[in-house]
Amino acid sequence: MTYSRILGTGSYLPARVVHNTELEEVMETSDSWIRERTGIVSRHYAADGETTVDMAEVAAKRAIEAAGISAADIDLIVFATATPDLVFPNAGVMLQARLGCRGGPAFSVEAACSGFIYALSIADKFVRSGEAKHALVVGSETLTRITDFTDRTTAILFADGAGAVVLSASQQPGVLSTHLHSDGHYQDLLYCTGGVSKGYEPGTGNRAFIRMAGREVFKVAVTMLGNVVDEVLAANNLQKSDIKWLVPHQANIRIIQAVAKKLDMSLDNVIITVQEQGNTSAASVPLALDTGIRDGRIKPGDLVLLEAFGGGFTWGASLVRM
Ligand code: ACO
Repeated sequence: MTYSRILGTGSYLPARVVHNTELEEVMETSDSWIRERTGIVSRHYAADGETTVDMAEVAAKRAIEAAGISAADIDLIVFATATPDLVFPNAGVMLQARLGCRGGPAFSVEAACSGFIYALSIADKFVRSGEAKHALVVGSETLTRITDFTDRTTAILFADGAGAVVLSASQQPGVLSTHLHSDGHYQDLLYCTGGVSKGYEPGTGNRAFIRMAGREVFKVAVTMLGNVVDEVLAANNLQKSDIKWLVPHQANIRIIQAVAKKLDMSLDNVIITVQEQGNTSAASVPLALDTGIRDGRIKPGDLVLLEAFGGGFTWGASLVRM
């Protein structure tokens, strides 16, 4: 039996740190409002000209080094992003060229904040079927490029960063199960106003911006994430207490607290980065995973639940033995 197993992780945050107090200067908001409603204190913004693939390159090289393989060993790249550098080549192919590996499939996955869970699930299937030996799974976003800084309800939330994992074939179980869901009927609650075939008017200078009905998103997110946690436990015949670590999408501390409560889990067993990173969409889960591994909290053998919820809506979870 071949399984897929996480061999190494890496991440990258841009140098510029933006504290809530800096946002107070450009919009009508307050540090205390942002902290209370979201848990966010500061976040990182990409430099002018710094792109999604630039950040992914650093995260990917760190993951490859941690895995103890060489870039040439990577035979699959699945790149989750809602903010690719270009429409094409896809971000996975651009990353492939930067890393110097070639020939294997490389593609991007667009599932908003659930993108990394979707990408992990896809890569797991390639590896278990024998079609890939060392997959690079990436989540990277420059959300500040689609943030409307005149909209205080969203501008305080979103940020930039990248995370990556090397997922390799193994005789030992690693990814135990993945669970993906979506419901397009909710698309008006969280979306980007422009793409390519819609909402973009060349020559007008119009840009695409995130729009969100935060309160409604919050309610559905908590319900769906609660359901998917039940699904993971049932599929693996486990009790809540069997899960050692929760690595959630970092959208809002209150959503994270609700999922931890559902698992009867102390927040000491949750990797929380939202306070210093904000919401980095598809990058947030691999960023948090890398944080928990590199600071020594998540250890080999630990049972880890990854989960995310995002625009669409899309949502999902994965249970992983480290
Ligand atoms: N600063 C100060 N006041 C603000 C701000 C701000 N930045 N934004 C909104 N307000 C005001 C509102 O205008 C409103 O004022 P009113 O009562 O006078 O009308 C008041 O604060 C309350 O606004 P709500 O939107 O009801 O506040 P809520 O408690 O719901 O918090 C928030 C808003 C943080 C967006 C919350 O709803 C949330 O986190 N929702 C989930 C969003 C989310 O997680 N999205 C990401 C998931 S998917 C993805 O990652 C893309």
